[in-house]
Amino acid sequence: MLFRQLFDSISSTYTYLIASRKGGEALIIDPVLEKTDHYIKLLDQLELRLVKVIDTHIHADHISGIAELRDRTKCVTLMGEQAPADVVSMHVKDNEKVKIEGIELTALYTPGHTDDSYSFLMNERVFTGDTLLIRGTGRTDFQNGSAYDQYHSLFDRLLKLPEETFIHPAHDYKGDLVSTIGEERKFNPRLQVTSAEEYAQIMNNLNLDNPKMMDVAVPTNKKLGMSFDRQKKFNGLSVSETKKIINKKDCCLIDLREDNEIKRQGSIAGSVQVSFNKLPDYLHKKRQDQTQSKLVFYCAVGERSALAVQLCQSYNFMNVNHLIGGINKWQEEEKVV
Ligand SMILES: [Fe+2]
Repeated sequence: MLFRQLFDSISSTYTYLIASRKGGEALIIDPVLEKTDHYIKLLDQLELRLVKVIDTHIHADHISGIAELRDRTKCVTLMGEQAPADVVSMHVKDNEKVKIEGIELTALYTPGHTDDSYSFLMNERVFTGDTLLIRGTGRTDFQNGSAYDQYHSLFDRLLKLPEETFIHPAHDYKGDLVSTIGEERKFNPRLQVTSAEEYAQIMNNLNLDNPKMMDVAVPTNKKLGMSFDRQKKFNGLSVSETKKIINKKDCCLIDLREDNEIKRQGSIAGSVQVSFNKLPDYLHKKRQDQTQSKLVFYCAVGERSALAVQLCQSYNFMNVNHLIGGINKWQEEEKVV
């Protein structure tokens, strides 16, 4: 396995790059915007194809690199379901799996630092975002944080993991790189409490200044999704336009989402599933068939489908469209009717 811990010295953020093999698919957790060139260079050097990028939560101290990576590498952006709907192209629920070639992570909803904070468990490692830091825990005094929620996320979720599990946090301010569950349980001063009240007492009296970048970073990070105006530029169609087209002969409606998402939300009748990471193979085969059908893509919120249209153009498929706003928008309009 390839595992790289990368550091941004301005925000003291750790970013993780993971892949199962050289030349295969890769995943990045908590990228920093200013480091994008560095990530892309490293991906190139290791001959990796970035397919997913995760933010553990909406960050307040740096601007996330997820949107820039999405636009430059055509990867899926991912957060937990409590994150604002239009920030990323894919949401996961508590206990759902995040998969790339040869790697599987389990999403753990660990609110407290923020109400959208997730940790991601990968075998003997857990990426804890700002929920559990080395000898510390993430502050709980803004972004709908809650010391009580964090207590439960720590004591009822993370500390229940095997004690040899490695902890990979999103930040460290003292130069520590990695720890374990057992080590933190013993030596983390914030975890030496006997009740949620005692923990809240500590957290609610930290009296910290707001992060320097907070006023810029939080609103910017909440707007990293692709706007409907921008989605429209990639042959985007409204729900009613899509409905007209997909009933015609020779039109193939393609659902780009993954099994979990389809199970959770259902799909549009008559569509076939080609999950986004399988699209290059699908297009490659279709090009050999010389099939001339019209392709209409949809996904959850319209981002993967907009990227699919761009990918198609590089395969010389020109008769392609996609549904602006994805199945979310489709189902929203069905309800209105
Ligand atoms: Fe944070």
